Amino acid sequence: MSFNTFGHLFRVTTFGESHGPAIGCVIDGCPPRIPLREADIQPYLDRRRPGQSRYTTQRQEPDTVRIISGVFIDEITGAQVTTGTPIALVIDNLDQRSKDYSAIKDKYRPGHADLTYDIKYGLRDYRGGGRQSARETAMRVAAGAVARKIVPDLKIRGALVQMGPHRVDRARWDWDEVDKNPFFCPDAKLAAMLGDYLDDLRKKGSSIGAVIEVVAEGVPPGLGAPIYGKLDGDLAAALMGINAVKGVEIGAGFRAAELSGEENGDEMRIGNDGKLRFLSNNAGGILGGISTGQPVVARFAVKPTSSILTPRRTVDRYGHETEISTTGRHDPCVGIRAVPIGEAMVACVIADHYLRQRGQVGDTPAWPFAPPAR
Ligand SMILES: Cc1cc2nc3c(=O)[nH]c(=O)nc-3n(C[C@H](O)[C@H](O)[C@H](O)COP(=O)(O)O)c2cc1C
Repeated sequence: MSFNTFGHLFRVTTFGESHGPAIGCVIDGCPPRIPLREADIQPYLDRRRPGQSRYTTQRQEPDTVRIISGVFIDEITGAQVTTGTPIALVIDNLDQRSKDYSAIKDKYRPGHADLTYDIKYGLRDYRGGGRQSARETAMRVAAGAVARKIVPDLKIRGALVQMGPHRVDRARWDWDEVDKNPFFCPDAKLAAMLGDYLDDLRKKGSSIGAVIEVVAEGVPPGLGAPIYGKLDGDLAAALMGINAVKGVEIGAGFRAAELSGEENGDEMRIGNDGKLRFLSNNAGGILGGISTGQPVVARFAVKPTSSILTPRRTVDRYGHETEISTTGRHDPCVGIRAVPIGEAMVACVIADHYLRQRGQVGDTPAWPFAPPAR
């Protein structure tokens, strides 16, 4: 039993390790005739790429993506388009430094998956964490770029909303700020202090966690299926599937436990345009596992990087107590680069549900429905 694939109709399989020659993915089920070039994918990879600021790992990977299959030139338009066959994408690994890991090859980093991979498989690729490494997430970002092209008018944006004890002030939220600072932070004032905060943590040989929020606008109503195919359930699984994620919430999330029914339930009116309008969005755009047409809002908590310089008590694979201190190149806050990864996972899930909805119900009559004839 192996699980390197997710999605039903938009199906993504990834392969590769941190220090292998390349990483890649195969996307099966992408509809035909969608314009697709490397240049459509690369900007998203560039946002996740390591080594872009001193606040992320200094591993230098250009992350240049190649489309290996699944595209052809459309004779009529001259554009390169998807053919409906599997789309294979590959990125070469160019900056491996496997010797950085030789000192810890028999020891288990507290908080990392070294122990459990060894228990499960009886061996592990210790070079950069092998398959446990978030290097694999580059392929999710690539798949997410393809997914974004499937749902018309879909807009998915992510932001870092908390690092350690520091939270954004939502009154200062500005989406334009997100790409202006190295933290994907929508609050310029908070972003201005996070650099010093992280420098200090790094000097101490430490690391810190973060919370990321992803907002998907333009999600058509009706996506998601009761009961085992809920949109929120699939989003939670996809986001929890990102390395280091320890919590996911949708809409009001855990705060909903503090609310009364009248505070929580999103009231409805008819807008001047005759369309349904919600007065709030505690549901995070999903009711009964089915999208309402409101923005889908998901948040996820990312734990602090486990590979830290500070010596920690641990054991080795031969049953001896020992200490470990991890050198090498690591993100002091892996939550930063998790922002484009979270966006990509949301894009893949929504694209999958969009195709599933089309497959099951095709065109449904438009809401509001006509009253019965008397
Ligand atoms: C973008 C990103 C980069 C990461 N980089 C590192 C890293 O440099 N060092 C590290 O110890 N963990 C890193 N991680 C986290 C590990 O991959 C993760 O903790 C490990 O695979 C164990 O899985 P789990 O935390 O989901 O249980 C990173 C995670 C993400 C999302």
